[in-house]
Amino acid sequence: MEKTEMILQEAIKEISKIVDKHELMAFSTKYLGKNGILSEQMKILRELPIEEKRSFGESLNILRDKLNDLVKTKDKEIEFSLLKEKLEKEKVDVTIPAKPKEYGTMHPIEILKKDLIDYFIERGYTLRDGGDIETDYYCFEALNVPKEHPAREMQDTFYIDSETVLRTHTSAMQVRTMESTQPPIKMISAGNAYRIDEVDATHSPVFGQLEILVVDKNVTMADLIGTLEGVVKHLLGEKTNIRVRPSYFPFTEPSIEADAVCPKCQGKGCSMCKCSGYIEMLGAGMVHPKVLEMSGIDSTVYKGFAAGIGLDRLAMMKFGVSDLRDLYENDINLLKQFK
Ligand code: DAH
Repeated sequence: MEKTEMILQEAIKEISKIVDKHELMAFSTKYLGKNGILSEQMKILRELPIEEKRSFGESLNILRDKLNDLVKTKDKEIEFSLLKEKLEKEKVDVTIPAKPKEYGTMHPIEILKKDLIDYFIERGYTLRDGGDIETDYYCFEALNVPKEHPAREMQDTFYIDSETVLRTHTSAMQVRTMESTQPPIKMISAGNAYRIDEVDATHSPVFGQLEILVVDKNVTMADLIGTLEGVVKHLLGEKTNIRVRPSYFPFTEPSIEADAVCPKCQGKGCSMCKCSGYIEMLGAGMVHPKVLEMSGIDSTVYKGFAAGIGLDRLAMMKFGVSDLRDLYENDINLLKQFK
């Protein structure tokens, strides 16, 4: 009895100094291990005369339970202090300012395109989506540009195969719309167009266009010019006037081109308009009766006007970008300005 009490007291003293699992393991082996103190006492027990065996056996059992309890309690204590230490270390300082997030920005051409789309949708136009890859038929044939037509040379084309092209203009969407919809039609379509071209400050083999098509009874050139004037004023300011010049496109008759009076110099000539006083903006005209007919629309009943606005030059002008290449090089410093 005294012996076991001594052992227990000694163990309590020892365990109170223990601070980590390693030491606890050693303690456990020393007292409860196969060759530990408790086992030693068991051997002694076996040698005892029968009358002493019982009470010593009991006190050894008690000692074993108490030692086990000591180890368990200590183990929990160590676990708890480890957790506490970890939590202290990982404490989050909620007062530290967060790292600023880098958000992307919309590309200037996209900003312009979205603005134009909103403008036309507000006026009852339907937006149609078209693919950059187009058939020769929709890009040329159905727009009154048969093979061998000299007008095909105006638009140097990227051919994918003999019947498939990268669209040279968004005008292909006129045909797709007329084929699937009967008038009245008020449609816009915006996207990229492609032509073989050397890259320089004002040319690129890929460029943005917005196509406009209106087909109805009694549509006139005055409607076309009024529409163009409206959109130019929306883009460049109420005071901006346009100039209309006769032109030629196989899919319109008559055909025109429209320029905006340079908003920077008011027509006097400056670096922005290359001293011409005007900014070229678009091609347009009254839809050729042949084009209407080919798409299944009765040209004796319906008339139409159409236009194709170039987006790149407009974006350059609106956002003061002097080199077209800057719009296509994904320079983050340029893009950041349009937040
Ligand atoms: N497709 C012409 C071009 O890319 C622009 C154009 C001219 C579009 C007249 C039209 C149009 O819709 O009627 O140069």
